[in-house]
Amino acid sequence: MAYTLSKPKDFLPATLDKAAKKLLQALANEAAKVSNEVEWKTFRDHWMARKDGVLSSLNDLWLKAAPKDAKRQVGQRVNELKAVVEQTVEQAKQRAESSSRSSRLEGERVDITLPGIQRPIGAEHPIVKTTNEMVAVFRDLGYSVEEGPEIETDYYNFEALNFPPNHPARDTQDTLFLAQQQAKPLREQLLLRTHTSPVQIRSMATKKPPIRIVIPGRVYRKDPPDASHSPMFHQIEGLAVDTNITFGDLKGTLDYAMKAFFGSNVKTSFRPSFFPFTEPSAELLVSCFLCGGRGTHGSDPCRPCKQTGWIEILGCGMVDPNVFQFVKHNGYDPEKVSGFAFGMGADRIALLKYGVEDLQLFFQNDVRFLRQFA
Ligand code: DAH
Repeated sequence: MAYTLSKPKDFLPATLDKAAKKLLQALANEAAKVSNEVEWKTFRDHWMARKDGVLSSLNDLWLKAAPKDAKRQVGQRVNELKAVVEQTVEQAKQRAESSSRSSRLEGERVDITLPGIQRPIGAEHPIVKTTNEMVAVFRDLGYSVEEGPEIETDYYNFEALNFPPNHPARDTQDTLFLAQQQAKPLREQLLLRTHTSPVQIRSMATKKPPIRIVIPGRVYRKDPPDASHSPMFHQIEGLAVDTNITFGDLKGTLDYAMKAFFGSNVKTSFRPSFFPFTEPSAELLVSCFLCGGRGTHGSDPCRPCKQTGWIEILGCGMVDPNVFQFVKHNGYDPEKVSGFAFGMGADRIALLKYGVEDLQLFFQNDVRFLRQFA
């Protein structure tokens, strides 16, 4: 039963002493039972509610009811009791809060025996994987890896690669130009690089010969997406410059690299071609690693090699002396050094390698598709 204050039968000090003692006893008892914030509120209201709390009864039943000559003495007692009640309520509050806090912490205690949170680990995208494998072949031959910007200037993408302004060879590159470049001189105008070849120039401008580098990277062309085209795709470029580099070095290096990548039984074949930045230029074909160069699978035609038994892998050639002119100041005197270069599409190699029929699948990022290669 909650304590209630009753009206004293008289206001003699002895009577009030007894009543005060009873009140303080009840206060202490109730305070001792408060163990959380909800209980504390009930406790506080019982003693301090404005309308019918014990303190307000004390005011009404003791102070207001006291005869004039006892008022002073009663008022003093009431004030003392009030101070004790307030202090007790405050102390109970602090106890209640800290015990609520510690029971909350109890609930948050770490159970170190629970299994950890599993975070799914990603895997290399098949194009990245193919690129890394090809780069590794050249790294083993002593090539280092270089990269360059995807937003490139006309100078690096074209001019320094011996595509003069207005040269028709530029048309083959389906270039995506950046807007609002017309006010700049042509060589500073920005575009999305159409190949990784500009990194040849960038590297030769900063590194003296001899140089042996591979350059993986994204490139862009104005091609509508279909099963074998994408406006963004990937190339792997290579460059070797030293004294006395010959076409024989080019052939030996690329033949070795193709065998290391596709398997030791593939054959290589070189056909004449044209690129402005190489002279002579060639295309490298490897015997079809899907049909073994036969062009058929039993009675079925081999589609990837179009039944020819050969698959075109890259463009290559001896670095054109005109290209060296742009970096002659850094030790690339065409009279003293020579070199070869090559460039291949990583996407197509990945398509062939994994037997994927639609290039778009590589870029749609459907995890169900990509997971197959993880
Ligand atoms: N950059 C050429 C292209 O995207 C590919 C290429 C051909 C790169 C011959 C070379 C090379 O380095 O020597 O069409």
